[in-house]
Amino acid sequence: MAVSIKAIKGTKDTLPSESYKIQYIEQAALDTAKAYGFHEIRTPVFEYTELFDRSVGETTDVVQKEMYTFNDKGDRSITLRPEGTAGAVRAFLEHGLFNEPLPQKVCYLTSCYRYEKPQAGRLREFHQFGIECFGASSALQDAEIIALANSYFNFIGIEKLAVEINSIGCPECRKKYSEALKAYFEESKSQLCETCLSRLDRNPMRILDCKSPVCSEIAAGAPVVLDYICDDCRDHFESLKKYLEALGIDYVVNPQIVRGLDYYTRTVFEFVSQDEKTKGLVLGGGGRYDGLVEELGGAPTPACGFAMGLERLLIAMEESGIPFPEAPKCNLSIVTAGENAVLKALELSAELRAQGYSVNIDTVGRSIKAQMKYANKINSEFTVVIGDNELESNSANLKCMADGTQTEVSLTEFCEGFERAYMNNAVAAFENADFSSLTQIDINNLLK
Ligand code: HAM
Repeated sequence: MAVSIKAIKGTKDTLPSESYKIQYIEQAALDTAKAYGFHEIRTPVFEYTELFDRSVGETTDVVQKEMYTFNDKGDRSITLRPEGTAGAVRAFLEHGLFNEPLPQKVCYLTSCYRYEKPQAGRLREFHQFGIECFGASSALQDAEIIALANSYFNFIGIEKLAVEINSIGCPECRKKYSEALKAYFEESKSQLCETCLSRLDRNPMRILDCKSPVCSEIAAGAPVVLDYICDDCRDHFESLKKYLEALGIDYVVNPQIVRGLDYYTRTVFEFVSQDEKTKGLVLGGGGRYDGLVEELGGAPTPACGFAMGLERLLIAMEESGIPFPEAPKCNLSIVTAGENAVLKALELSAELRAQGYSVNIDTVGRSIKAQMKYANKINSEFTVVIGDNELESNSANLKCMADGTQTEVSLTEFCEGFERAYMNNAVAAFENADFSSLTQIDINNLLK
């Protein structure tokens, strides 16, 4: 039957055969965040549009061109979140998290929505892992956030990655820089796109991240912000470099990074793939946003954070052949013949599942042969056939599907018998494994 309704352009289904990969990178992200004292926050998928206008910035591409904005039935302007920082700041203020011990460290896994031109690594619905830290102004916090992201990429196995950093100064140094930019762009005013023309007076820095080829070419020769930052911002940036060196993190200063969102102050950074096949793909980015909490109605509160795109990370892993842990298996398929065997299977499967095993039983009334076929297709590690004979003798043969060996197990002590066979099998697999070819990532995964 033809499927007439398709997924919307720029969105992506994750099928059961793939979902364990995303679960793996998400769990690793939460574990890394936990190791640095960040705890999960969940905020709504939609917020009042004003939140993003005031945080991400009215002259950014995200707000001007990419937001999914609509009026709800109460005629309020609502927007699907294009990123996770604004919602986290709103929640920080709304729930008085500033009264909790500072710094407050939160992390999130969220879907985000941007009406961008879909291409590899650029979706209209994508997913971010992000972290935000409120209440620490020192560059040490920026370094710790970069270290967290870096250790996550290391754990996952992304080796060819550049850590690019820059400082875009504070609102004071930005004034001088904006003037210099304005003077520079005035000279090529007639060639700028309409959006950039409107940015020239309001926020000339945003012209630097316009995607139009003509504007990008002009922007390439523009003055760089690093030449305009004040002494305090320069000291902060120097401290960041010192801490990154102490952490053993190789970085490059890239004076062109300004980031596409308005809330940043001082530190900005990006993690850029250097792998041949994904060179230049920005896997994640972030920075400091010391003015945002105040802008949204709170007391002045320094803050910084980072976010990365999960789909981009998967692309980078797949393109560079980074292994994933094995797909989850069915530990046991109980093949049944007759109603009494079904009742026994219900009892045994409940007990084994309660112990954490994955157990399959037949629920469609198939023949023994067809049940065995299905057990094979779903990669069952063990099978056991239970029929009248087995019920009468109170024992059944547990078959290991990898080598065909059979073990007789009492039905009264079936769970213990299964556990023994399962462990013996795991030990044998371990003894026969070729550890000489293990990579660091395999070892990390084994240790998890
Ligand atoms: P961002 O650079 O806009 O920063 O997005 C972070 C990451 O999300 C990007 O590096 C990329 O991996 C992924 N991403 C962005 N747009 C798309 C897309 N259309 N399709 C697929 N992946 C995408 C932020 O969002 C900031 N909130 C980061 C931050 C947190 N700064 C401070 N705290």
